[in-house]
Amino acid sequence: MCGIVGYIGFREAYPIIIKGLQRLEYRGYDSAGVALLNGEMRIYKKQGKVSDLEAFVADQPTSATVGMGHTRWATHGAPSDRNSHPHTSNNGKLSIIHNGIIENYSSIKEEMIKRGHVFNSDTDTEVLIHLIEDIQEKTNQTLDESVRIALKEVVGAYAIVVISKDHPDEIIAARKGSPMVIGVGEGEYFIASDASPIIEYTKNVIFLNDSEMAIVKRDSLVIKTIDNVVQDPYIHELELQLEMIEKGGYEHFMLKEIYEQPRSIYDSMRGRINSKDGFIGLSGLNEYEEKFKNAERILIVACGTSWHAGLVAEYLIEDYARIPVEVEYASEFRYRNPIITEKDIVIAISQSGETADSLAAIELAKSKGATIFGICNVVGSSIPRASNAGAYTHAGPEIGVASTKAFTAQVTILTLLAWSIGQKKGAIKKTRLMELLSALEAIPAKVEKALQSNDEIKAIAERFKDAHNFLYLGRGYNFPVALEGALKLKEISYIHAEGYPAAEMKHGPIALIDENMPVVVVATKGTILEKIISNIQEVKARKGVIIAIVTEGDVEVRKMADYVIEIPETEECLVPLLATIPLQLLSYHIAIMRGCNVDQPRNLAKSVTVE
Ligand code: F6R
Repeated sequence: MCGIVGYIGFREAYPIIIKGLQRLEYRGYDSAGVALLNGEMRIYKKQGKVSDLEAFVADQPTSATVGMGHTRWATHGAPSDRNSHPHTSNNGKLSIIHNGIIENYSSIKEEMIKRGHVFNSDTDTEVLIHLIEDIQEKTNQTLDESVRIALKEVVGAYAIVVISKDHPDEIIAARKGSPMVIGVGEGEYFIASDASPIIEYTKNVIFLNDSEMAIVKRDSLVIKTIDNVVQDPYIHELELQLEMIEKGGYEHFMLKEIYEQPRSIYDSMRGRINSKDGFIGLSGLNEYEEKFKNAERILIVACGTSWHAGLVAEYLIEDYARIPVEVEYASEFRYRNPIITEKDIVIAISQSGETADSLAAIELAKSKGATIFGICNVVGSSIPRASNAGAYTHAGPEIGVASTKAFTAQVTILTLLAWSIGQKKGAIKKTRLMELLSALEAIPAKVEKALQSNDEIKAIAERFKDAHNFLYLGRGYNFPVALEGALKLKEISYIHAEGYPAAEMKHGPIALIDENMPVVVVATKGTILEKIISNIQEVKARKGVIIAIVTEGDVEVRKMADYVIEIPETEECLVPLLATIPLQLLSYHIAIMRGCNVDQPRNLAKSVTVE
């Protein structure tokens, strides 16, 4: 939530910052601003998108080789020009951008007001720049020392960048609980919330750790802890390519990411399986093999779409590894005083690896001795770093706010995990594992085939784009698919949608069904198809309109459904990887037809780094 960019070097800072903010806009997009340092401090900020800021700045002077920018997702203070970052000290010399929440802002604010500071926004962030100014004035400390002392007083999460008119050749950055990457160039440094604004200039980056700050000059970088201990930073070489974060001819990132799934699913399993030998190699599992084999239960913590992937994993792990699984909303788990022991394994699933609730949930589990296995997409993010072991999904950058390819990549890794534990425990025979693995190897081509229904799906979207409600039903492995389909629709089209286990419908939601209610039923071939056919009949008896996702060649469901979308046949446990595809496309088309911004839906942000 909120994107930050900073630059110090020899190039014009403004174009680098604006381009960087556009790349980070998925993190928040209700207002944006820049501060440029060139003898004086120029600040431009505006409610709205980065493009609104750009238009606003078009005729203004921007020349500077030091600067910073921010794109906001509001927490404290409504989106407005005055609440946009950067925020400035009363003497006009200092300015700050911030991602996170200063939890003790009101007590600091009170103190600052007593000391004569005048506030110009309703944000929590502004207190920090007044505090830094106050410390500087009181103690005559250097800029970095004033920032460091101020941060010692702060409770909460932050990634900040501070610049000062009195220190025109310096940028101070710091983080705790919010991500920050520093790009290392020659005679220049880049600072950003993730690597996307940086990669076209340098592939060498430093991931700042929690409670670390950086004192960045054109030709030097010092990293130290907030407790003033100098660190020896590790420079990573990024594998990210520029085309991975561009739209590549698609109209929207979401559509591109939906269509990337044959490749991203393949990349998730690449080098990790061999069906001919019945081999699964998840290196993160090696050290913890005994622990997984002997686990009495596995807890899964996640949020949103990643939580849905966790539900699929519950079925997979119980089916194939025969270990009981509990899937928890990270936000509930962390405040519930859960019973966790050293025997427990906690799997944290997260695309961004930065979700505040998931991170807090694993910190809690870790403090009670549990082993943490992180399944994340963003390399170097906080959750993998806080985990004992894990596996990256390798889906590539996901920029559309609604998660698509990250979900199928998570399910792919979770499938491998379940089978691998099952194999190690002797719960799956080798011949069966070989069969399963070859079914998984066939999935990318089958996803390709599922994507070919796009035109039919578009026609269905046209028919239902004005519906006010949708119900999504599924059973077994398709229950999480129904939840995910409903979430996709509501978050990008703003149509109310509910996902339900199909048989639960008669315990309440059936009352909603009438001739205006589209009911999407995932009714694919499998052990429970007969049961779901009965549920379809219950809907039809109440005049509900059925849109069914069926297996190629189906005749039974087709007789009852008003609309059918076919997906190729596969193993029952792999159906979520295929059945999700038409539901993603359906949401996408409906949202586009309703004129919604699918890549940046209202009120949302990609990486939820506040609780
Ligand atoms: C929905 C969506 C969110 C995320 C959730 C968790 O399309 O993207 O529900 O899944 O915010 O995010 P991560 O996976 O980054 O922890």
